[in-house]
Amino acid sequence: MIGGEIMCGITGYVGKRNAAEIGLKLLEKLVYRGYDSAGFASLDGANFSVMKAVGHMDRLYDKLNGSKPKGGAAICHTRWATHGIPTERNAHPHSDCAGRYYVVHNGVIENYKTLKRALEASGHVFASETDTEVLAHLFEETRKTTPSLFEAVRLGLQQVQGTFGLVLISSETPETLYVAARSSPILLGKGDGEYFIASDPRALILYTRDVEELGDDQIAVVTAKGHRVYDLDGVARSLKAQRIEWSEDEAEKGGYRHFMEKEIFSGPEAVANSIRGRLLIKEGNARLGGLNVDGVLERLSSAKRIYLSGCGTSYYAALFGQYLLKQAGIPAEAGIASEFRYSPPIFDPDDVVVLMSQSGETADTIGFLREAKKKVLTLGIVNVVGSKIARDTDAGIYQHISPEVGVASTKAFISQITILSLFTLLLARQRGMPVENGQMIAQSIARVPDLMQSMLSDEGWIKHIADLSQKYVNYTNFLYLGRGINYPTALEGALKLKEVSYIHAEGYPAGEMKHGPIAMIDENFVSVFIVPENGHRQRVFSNMEEIRARYGPVLAVATAGDLEVNEHADDIITIPPIEDTLSPILATVPLQLFAYKVGTAKGINVDMPRNLAKSVTVE
Ligand code: AGP
Ligand code: GLU
Repeated sequence: MIGGEIMCGITGYVGKRNAAEIGLKLLEKLVYRGYDSAGFASLDGANFSVMKAVGHMDRLYDKLNGSKPKGGAAICHTRWATHGIPTERNAHPHSDCAGRYYVVHNGVIENYKTLKRALEASGHVFASETDTEVLAHLFEETRKTTPSLFEAVRLGLQQVQGTFGLVLISSETPETLYVAARSSPILLGKGDGEYFIASDPRALILYTRDVEELGDDQIAVVTAKGHRVYDLDGVARSLKAQRIEWSEDEAEKGGYRHFMEKEIFSGPEAVANSIRGRLLIKEGNARLGGLNVDGVLERLSSAKRIYLSGCGTSYYAALFGQYLLKQAGIPAEAGIASEFRYSPPIFDPDDVVVLMSQSGETADTIGFLREAKKKVLTLGIVNVVGSKIARDTDAGIYQHISPEVGVASTKAFISQITILSLFTLLLARQRGMPVENGQMIAQSIARVPDLMQSMLSDEGWIKHIADLSQKYVNYTNFLYLGRGINYPTALEGALKLKEVSYIHAEGYPAGEMKHGPIAMIDENFVSVFIVPENGHRQRVFSNMEEIRARYGPVLAVATAGDLEVNEHADDIITIPPIEDTLSPILATVPLQLFAYKVGTAKGINVDMPRNLAKSVTVE
C-alpha cells in the first residue's frame, strides 16, 4: 500500500527530460523528514556527474551554481546517518572501485561488517564509513561472475541482511535503473515515456499519480519505457497499479509560518476527523469499523489485559490510554516499544496489544509488534494508511487525519488520545458500562472540536501564550508536572519544548516531584503544572506551593473560572471546562503552542529540529 514513512529520502528519474533537475525537485519534497546531507549522481551517456553536500540541500544547489548536469537518468538522496558521521564522504550516492556503479540507499545493512571484510580481502577499497557503500562494491564483485548487472544485483542482495530501499545507476547500462526494497518503501511512478522513483508518494505527486510500490525482496529494472519486477529468486512478479488521491496542498503550509503551527491549529479538525462516523451519541457508544473484523470485537470483550505501546509522543498517548482504560475498570499497561520488544510483558493468550504510531513505520514499534504477534491479538492505531504497522497488525483504527509534516508530533497526538477515548468507551460499554454513562461520555467527546476551536480562535488567549513564551524564553530548565491522566500530558508538554526549543525540560508525576527533582528548584527553574478541575486539584495545589516555597516560578494550565489557582501560580493559561478524562486533549493544545512560540522565538526551525527525524526507522 501507498504511504510508508521513512526518515531519509530517495528519488530517481529516467526519461527524456533533465534527470538531475527532476530528481532534485522530487527530493525537495522529502526534506521535511530531516536529513543531514544530500547528493545525486546523473548519467549523460556513460559520463557521471556526482555531487554531494553536507547540511541543507541549498548547499548542493550552491555547488551546482546554476549549472544543470546533463543526462536522462539520475538518482538522488537525503541521508540521515546511521553508520558514519554526516560528512560529504559519507553522503550518498556511493560507488564501487571502478566508479561504474552508484547507489543510494535507505535503511541499514546489518551484516555490512562481514561483507566489507570479505570485499576488502578481495581487494576492494572503501571511501566511506557507511554500510551503504558495501552494496556498490558487492555488486561490482558479483558482476564478475554473472551474465548481467541484474543478476549481479539479485545475487548480491541475496547476501544482504538488513533493510533497504535502494536505487543503482550504472554506466554499464546508462538508461536503466535498478531498484530494490526490503522493509523500506520505494515507489515507481509512471509518466509519459518516463519513470519517476521515490521513497515517498508525496514527491511523486509532483509529476504523476499512477504509482506502484515495490514489495519486500523485489527488484525492479526500470527504463523510460517500462519496468520488469523480479523477486530475489529471479521469479518475475507484477506490481499492483495504484492511484494517489491526495491533493497536493494537503501537505502544504496553508498560510501558516510553519507546518507545526498549521498542525496545532488543525487540532480541532484532527479530532473531528478522528471521531467522524464513529461516535454513536444515542447509543452512548463508539463504532470502530476497523475492529469489526474476524471476531476482533469478541476477543476485545474478553481480553484479560490491554497492553499499549509506542515510542516518543506515541508512547505518551499509550500511557494516556493506560490511565483511561484503568479508570474504566479495564486492566491495562503501557510500555515503551523499545523496552517492551526486548523485555515483553508476560502475555496471557487473551491479552491484546495496541500499537500507537503516527507513521506506522517506527522500527522499535515494529519490533515489538513482531514479538507480540506470535502470542496475542495485535491492533494498530496508525495515521499513515497502508504503513507497515497498519499492514502487519491483525486489525486497527486509522486516525484519518491528513499527513503530519512537522517533525514534532502535534495533531497526531491529539488524534491518538481522542481515538483512545473512543476505544475505551467501546470496551467499557462491552463490559457493562450503563448506556447513560456512555451517552455522557459520547456527548463530551463530540464537544471537543468546538472547545478546542474556541481556544484557537481566541486572539487574546493566543497572545497571552505568545507573551508567556517571551517571558520564559531565556529560562534553561523546565519541569512539567501533572497527576493521573494528566501525567502523560506533562510528559508530552516537556517533550515538545525539548524538541523544538532545545531547552531542558522534564515531565514528572507531580506527586513524585518532592522525592528528588525538587532539589533542583530555585528561581531559575520553571515548573509548568497541568491542573484542570478534578479530584487531584487540591493535591496539585500543594505541589505548586512546594515549588513556590523554593522560589520556583510556576506556570499553570488550569480550567477557566478556577479562581483558586490564582493563589498558587505566577501565570495561568486557561482551558475550557471539560470531563476530566478528556482534559488532556484540551490541555495539550496550549502546551504545544507554548513550545512552538518559544522555539520560534529562539529562531529554531521547529519543523525540522536538529538531530530528529519524522519517523525513526532504526533501532
Ligand atoms: C514526536 O514529537 C517525536 N518526534 C517522536 O517522539 C515520535 O512520536 C516517535 O518517534 C514515534 O513516531 P510514530 O508515532 O510515527 O511511531
Ligand atoms: N545506513 C545508511 C547510512 O548511514 C543509510 C541511512 C539512511 O537511511 O539515510 O548512510
